[in-house]
Amino acid sequence: MHIIAFNGSPRKSGNTSTIIKAMLKGAKAAGAETTEVRLHDIDMKGCLGCLTCRTHAGKCKQKDALTPYLEAIKTCDGAVFGTPIYMYHVTGQMKMFIDRIYHLFVSKSGSPGTYETAVPPGKTYALVTSQGHPDIERFQRPVRWLAAMTGGGLGMKEVGRIVQVNSHQIPVKEDKALLEKAYIIGQKLVTERA
Ligand SMILES: Cc1cc2nc3c(=O)[nH]c(=O)nc-3n(C[C@H](O)[C@H](O)[C@H](O)COP(=O)(O)O)c2cc1C
Repeated sequence: MHIIAFNGSPRKSGNTSTIIKAMLKGAKAAGAETTEVRLHDIDMKGCLGCLTCRTHAGKCKQKDALTPYLEAIKTCDGAVFGTPIYMYHVTGQMKMFIDRIYHLFVSKSGSPGTYETAVPPGKTYALVTSQGHPDIERFQRPVRWLAAMTGGGLGMKEVGRIVQVNSHQIPVKEDKALLEKAYIIGQKLVTERA
């Protein structure tokens, strides 16, 4: 049982990282091995735009430090996709990662702009976002987009999401209710596999 988390925050002890840690702790307690991929800290390159993946489903020509983790999306049991909101959207690190998973979206022949997934069925996923804006609804569009471009679009089953607002009074590290929610979602990544 393997749960892999992709973290788009550059801040090791920031809000996104703290919530992801709590989720992975829950997954571990439920029996999983866990991996956190800190996208900012690995030598990850952008998509080459070669479109090789349109004719070779599931293959990415770009080879770098992200490559083994892209392979792990196909073999893992569940995944977490987490990012702060930067400039009304996901961070650059998360966007670069999302471009790189285009190879997992297989173009349906005769149906332009529609996709099948190259990821085997039966996996779970969860989302984490953190924002400064006090309105929790403010970035629902990018959050929905994040789901569609990651776990949802890849055919995984969502078991929960956390939209964290850092301008609330309680710092995330002291927000026991939020961290407990993250922990429970982490457990569900393991226990609610299809
Ligand atoms: C470059 C940059 C852009 C940001 N843009 C937004 C934004 O558009 N909306 C918002 O609510 N917060 C914005 N923020 C605040 C972060 O989303 C917020 O501080 C978040 O909690 C950081 O997450 P982290 O602790 O995981 O790094 C921005 C922060 C930075 C550094």
